[in-house]
Amino acid sequence: MLSKLVSRQVINQGLRLANRTASTVAQQKIVGDRNPDIKHRRLFINNEFVDAYSKNVFEVLNPSTGDVLTEVADASDRDVDLAVKAAKDAFRLGSEWRRMDPAARGALLNKLADLIERDRAYLAALETLNNGKPFQDSYNVDIPHCVAVLRYYAGWPDKMNGKVLPVGGDFFSYTRREPIGVVGQIIPWNFPMILLCWKIGPSVAAGCTSIIKLDEHTPLTGLYTAELIKEAGFPPGVINILSGDGPHCGASLVKHPDVHKIAFTGSTQVGKIIGAETAKLVKRTTLELGGKSPNIVFADCDLDTAVEMSHFALFFNQGQCCCAGSRTYVQEGIYDEFVQRSVERAKRRKVGDPFDDTTEQGPQISHEQMDKILDLIDSGKRAGAKLQIGGQRAGDKGFFVQPTVFSDVNDNHRIAREEIFGPVMQILKFKTVDEVIERANDSDYGLAASVFSKDLDKAIVVSNGLRAGSVWVNTYDNFDPVAPFGGFKQSGLGREKSEYSLDSYTETKCVTIKISERNS
Ligand code: NAI
Ligand code: MG
Repeated sequence: MLSKLVSRQVINQGLRLANRTASTVAQQKIVGDRNPDIKHRRLFINNEFVDAYSKNVFEVLNPSTGDVLTEVADASDRDVDLAVKAAKDAFRLGSEWRRMDPAARGALLNKLADLIERDRAYLAALETLNNGKPFQDSYNVDIPHCVAVLRYYAGWPDKMNGKVLPVGGDFFSYTRREPIGVVGQIIPWNFPMILLCWKIGPSVAAGCTSIIKLDEHTPLTGLYTAELIKEAGFPPGVINILSGDGPHCGASLVKHPDVHKIAFTGSTQVGKIIGAETAKLVKRTTLELGGKSPNIVFADCDLDTAVEMSHFALFFNQGQCCCAGSRTYVQEGIYDEFVQRSVERAKRRKVGDPFDDTTEQGPQISHEQMDKILDLIDSGKRAGAKLQIGGQRAGDKGFFVQPTVFSDVNDNHRIAREEIFGPVMQILKFKTVDEVIERANDSDYGLAASVFSKDLDKAIVVSNGLRAGSVWVNTYDNFDPVAPFGGFKQSGLGREKSEYSLDSYTETKCVTIKISERNS
């Protein structure tokens, strides 16, 4: 009972994702519709739903079964051209969008948030069907967080002030924060709705127009959101949404000369390709990439909380989080007990049908991802890490993987260095503060980190020493919209969410006026 209570309290603490909307989007349990109608399969360009120019389509799978769910339009170069043209027209000087009162842009974001809230149960069911995440998470975490993010950005457009500058001489100088222009946004499959809203929010708030490329595994909720964008009243061309693959559709967006900025979330490997390409045109680029985040548990922590939060840090969303706490460093005095309790917790983790309201873990997104995870598990076993539990595919239908825990992991094992992106926990032992900071920082990545200790002085010293964009102390995955998120080192460039993200959707212009001397 105690662990059940701790678990609920701790998970609520972690899922601050949804917290800011508690008053309007309350957490509740409902039964998800396991057969939501799939209403949209076509591209959204200039506020119209259209087939791909080639008429090509691609299959979308249900990861719980491996069966084909439907087929959607497969956008390529020609469709990217049309979408960019629509976004460029919408951005031209004197257009409805450029003349719109900034507060009206905020009202459109609020309206879109209202519509997502109205269709929360439908969107959550569609997200679970297509992505496999438990319906209770889609409904109580993902969709409420989308609403919170859009409402946060809805407050910004009429508050993006410039400055008056103290230039010398008879001059009057001021800065303006102007929209960058046409933006290409490419998102992955692990949080399809959330990442869509992380992209729409700052782009609209800043006054940009955009082309969003959905992930080829999970296009369904994004294509439906297109209808809500139209219903909300966004002018044609302001937001265009494409389903298509990476190497053709994504790459063509990245290279397009009329796209002024690329915002990408996905693998570090593709992030490097995109960065090299955009550098050629000095195109503004933000990259939110992979991680191998250290989670540091000191012997003086609250052990119940640390065990539960460390479990959550790794296993949430089937382990498919760029910021997953995937290197769990535990201090020697509590190491054995921590391992034992973490194994017990993983044993209790309920894997299965994501529409069952007791399910904690659904399938991985694809066969390919499942194979990647199983291959890394094998490498851990071969390298001599101790497999405490799990290690296999779960069942023979869909893409399920057993909750897996390794102890006795060595810093040089592949499972301690590479992003696994699955339900596989690595536990490592450490002795001292200095040692653990150095080992935690010994990674090409630097997205997130966490510290569990009751000694806040120590927690602050360690937080300051960690090379990571987000550090959580005695909690994990707090995703309040006001908090910036992004990586040091190869975890990326720039920040998502928060006012920091707005900076990457604006250019600073300085206007200087010579003051006439005729009155002197
Ligand atoms: P990916 O990076 O290939 O795909 C992410 C997005 O990029 C998709 O929309 C895809 O169509 C697009 N894309 C792929 N190649 C592109 C190109 N050349 N130009 C433009 N866009 C392109 O990720 P993938 O293959 O699905 O997963 C591989 C690994 O990446 C995972 O195992 C995981 O480690 C990591 N990953 C990290 C994510 C994060 O949140 N940072 C999200 C998804 C995957
Ligand atoms: Mg890929």
